[in-house]
Amino acid sequence: MDLKVKTLLALICVTAVGMFPRGCRLRNFFSHYQSTSCACDKCSSEGDPWFTQRFNKSVAPFLSSEYNLTEEAFNWWKRMQGERGSLSSFSKTVEGLFQVVPPRPDLEEHSPYRCRTCAVVGNSGNLKGSHYGALINFQDVVIRMNNGRVEGYEADVGNRTTHRIMYPESAMNLENNTHLVLFPFKIQDLLWVTKALTTGFHGTSYRPVKSKIKANKDLVMVVNPAFMKYVHETWLGKKGRYPSTGFMALIMALHICDEIHVFGYGADNDGNWSHYWEVLRDKSFRTGVHPGNHEYDTILKLTEQQKIQFYSGW
Ligand code: C5P
Repeated sequence: MDLKVKTLLALICVTAVGMFPRGCRLRNFFSHYQSTSCACDKCSSEGDPWFTQRFNKSVAPFLSSEYNLTEEAFNWWKRMQGERGSLSSFSKTVEGLFQVVPPRPDLEEHSPYRCRTCAVVGNSGNLKGSHYGALINFQDVVIRMNNGRVEGYEADVGNRTTHRIMYPESAMNLENNTHLVLFPFKIQDLLWVTKALTTGFHGTSYRPVKSKIKANKDLVMVVNPAFMKYVHETWLGKKGRYPSTGFMALIMALHICDEIHVFGYGADNDGNWSHYWEVLRDKSFRTGVHPGNHEYDTILKLTEQQKIQFYSGW
């Protein structure tokens, strides 16, 4: 064959070898994005039967002004902390709340083009000496809860907080770019956040509560009581009085994140839920009214099924 023809054929081959696999890769790329709900290697909300029987994406994690809580969900929620008010008083209080905070939560939809990674940071003593700080800070979303300290503990827990879960009795002031995620356990909690962000709250509770709170009211999100019921019934098989804040936070993350890294969960050697920043005073606390063992087993099962990455601490 003429050298020119040979060179031409070689060039065509090189181009074809270069193009076709790329064509295949391109097809794989598109079919991957068409069939998955996120751009991570593995999306937390997809799964096998154990998971799909429990995970119900139709349950809204947060309240919005369009949402109507059912009487059934309200009646379940009432029993958690002995609420005596009615559903209509709940709805009126929510209406007032949405005059102050956004009527829809600040949430990005899942997208096949994005991988939103989250760190969920519980308050376990096993964080002490863990050096997880950099790994926690590295995630897009960092969810902390209640009095979980940062100052002085940065090496172990990081210092970024995009979301802080709280209820009035566990409230703290927040940075302007941190979302306040209210876990309401009674109607007064909804009133508290409305007032604490504006004129001040002057009621009482089982523990002293802050009259005013420093937080960005445009970044407030309120957990849906029906979501709490779903976590208790579907994820915990109704065990314990009701789920712990940390466990509800974890299931919330399954609903809003694509890849979840879990830190700060687990009792100490005596079976108590002690904190990384203090010495436990009440040695008979165990896991309070919450089904701690069942929650922990579920965390291990989620880990085994690669829905979460669990860092069990020190
Ligand atoms: O104590 P606190 O409720 O603020 O802790 C937040 C959450 O962290 C708990 O609701 C629980 O789910 C989790 N936790 C844990 N082990 C501990 C302490 C807390 O799993 N030792």
